[in-house]
Parts: sequence; C-alpha cells; structure tokens
Amino acid sequence: MLDSKPSVLIIGLGLIGASLGKALRHAGTAFVYGSDQQSNVPEVALTFGVIDEVVENLANLKEVDVIVMAVPVKAIASVLTNINHLLPTVKVLTDVGSVKGAVVKQVEEVLGELPAYFVPGHPIAGAEKSGVGAANVELFDKHLHILTPLPQSSPAAVDLLTQLWSSVGADVVTMDVERHDEVLAATSHLPHLLAFSLVDTLARESDNREIFRYAAGGFRDFTRIAASDPTMWHDVFLTNQDATLKILRKFQSDLAMLEHAIETSDGELLKTVFHRSKSARDYFTQVLEQREKGVSFSAITDYTP
Ligand SMILES: NC(=O)c1ccc[n+]([C@@H]2O[C@H](COP(=O)([O-])OP(=O)(O)OC[C@H]3O[C@@H](n4cnc5c(N)ncnc54)[C@H](O)[C@@H]3O)[C@@H](O)[C@H]2O)c1
Repeated sequence: MLDSKPSVLIIGLGLIGASLGKALRHAGTAFVYGSDQQSNVPEVALTFGVIDEVVENLANLKEVDVIVMAVPVKAIASVLTNINHLLPTVKVLTDVGSVKGAVVKQVEEVLGELPAYFVPGHPIAGAEKSGVGAANVELFDKHLHILTPLPQSSPAAVDLLTQLWSSVGADVVTMDVERHDEVLAATSHLPHLLAFSLVDTLARESDNREIFRYAAGGFRDFTRIAASDPTMWHDVFLTNQDATLKILRKFQSDLAMLEHAIETSDGELLKTVFHRSKSARDYFTQVLEQREKGVSFSAITDYTP
C-alpha cells in the first residue's frame, strides 16, 4: 500500500506508457506527467485521461518521484540525455523495454554508473496495437510485471516500483537481466519473428489474395502478432541478438527434423512431436485459466513433460 501519491513522469505515451498512465490515474495511486517526442501526443493523452499534466519541455519540469521510460529500447539513451536535471532528486528510474541487457548498458554508458534508484522492468502484457489511441486501462491487470533489479538497486526503489505496478493489478516478480533476455527470446521474441516471417512469405506468393481470403482461425491466431509495431521489434532483435539467435538456431534445427520426417514419411516422429507439443500447450491453457482467476505466478505448478 502506497503511503503517499507519488508523481510519475511517463516518457513515451504509446501503448505501454499510455496504458500505464491511464491505469495509475484510474487506481488513484499517482499524479501522472506525460511527455512524448511527437509534440501532439501528450495533448491527446490529456484528453483521453491518460495523464494529469502535459510536459511540453522536459527542461521545465523541476522535480518528480518516478520516471518511466516507455520508449523503444534503442531510444533509451536519447531519453536519458533529456532528464539529467531530474535525476538528483528522483526516487525511481525505470523502463518497460522488452529487452533488459541493452537498457542497462545504455543507462551505464550515459550516466557513467548504475544508480541505486534505477530498477529496470518489463510488463508481460501488450498488444499488436501501438500509439496513444491504444491505451488500455486493464492492460496490466492479472499480468506479470518482471523487475530485474541490479545489485546496485536500492530496496526502497524496488519497493516503491513494486507498489506502483501492483496498484494497476500486475503480479510483480523479479528475475536477473540475463535470464530475462533468454526467457523472453524464447517466449516472445521468437514467436514474433515466426509470425512476421510467415506472413511475409505468404504475402509474397503470387496467389496471396486466395491465401488471405481462405485463411481461417489457425492462420489468424498464429499471425495476429505480425501486426505489431515494426520499430519496436526491430529494436528488440538488434538489442537481444545473442539470445534470439540461440533459440532461433535451436528452432531451425527442430524444424529441419520435422522437414526430414515429412520427406521420409516418418509418421511416428511427427506423432511423437505433435503429442508432446499438444500436452505442453494443454498445460499452458491451464496456466492461462489459473492466471485469469487471479492465481499468483508463484502458486502455479510446474510442467512435467
Ligand atoms: N507493445 C507491446 O506489446 C509491448 C509489451 C511490453 C513491453 N513493450 C515495450 O514498451 C516500450 C514501448 O512500446 P509501445 O508498444 O508502447 O510503443 P508505441 O510505439 O506504442 O509507443 C512508443 C512511444 O514512444 C515515443 N517515443 C519514441 N522515442 C521517443 C523519445 N526518444 N523520446 C520521447 N518519446 C519517444 C513515440 O512517439 C511513441 O508515442 C518498448 O520498449 C517495448 O519494447 C511493448
């Protein structure tokens, strides 16, 4: 429970930043300032009830408790150069980037150190939509928020950030930076790459009109995320190269095995893989149902193949 109502500056009022602003205001747990490199966006955010106050020029803001950098991962360094004057009094500096190692690196390069008030974070919630118009007050409700505190991060900063994210319904967990980037490469980055690639391959077929016209639920479910923001995903792959390449190569090798099974009519292998996969997906469905009921992350039982 927050003792007082902190002031929160959200820089980047797109899907994630605007959803967070809206949710914090809805929960009544923060006074929200908003800034964006697109000059019209903060005004729109004010009209949509996403923020309490527009910050047109960051240099004019004198003091704030919490700063959330909700911009594409490669934009973190440029944001940091604009908020230097606020850092001496800030209680928490955080971000929402889908990759954590690259964010930590930029903070260290620009600030020359990893300050105690810096606590990186990543909400495991999102959508294929982007921009301030996509703000969703319930986006983080019953979703995980991963904090990746650093050895230097102060317990007080972690605590305040945990309370803020909890106040918008998130289930806050902690993980180390490297593990985060590996896990997310497998569960989020690889699926996005596959969806982008499949849609691109099919769209370049000469009969693509037929393909899209007759495509049904399976295609729709598998490819929904291919409508995600290209800039954001460009940044993710270029800043999480090692982990994404590692899992991509493993996947390519497993896919080649399936290709060989089809070529050699190895039905046994196909069935074995499909059964194994179905059982894992059924377990995942149960996890989703439990999370929907509000079961906390730590109470969910492990999967045993
Ligand atoms: N979209 C998702 O599903 C999702 C989920 C979890 C985390 N994230 C992470 O959240 C961050 C934001 O993603 P999003 O989906 O909200 O993107 P978005 O495109 O919807 O919004 C980004 C906003 O940041 C602004 N911006 C960009 N560079 C800026 C700069 N230098 N200074 C100030 N404003 C700047 C843009 O104008 C835009 O309004 C990314 O780091 C992404 O990795 C996204």
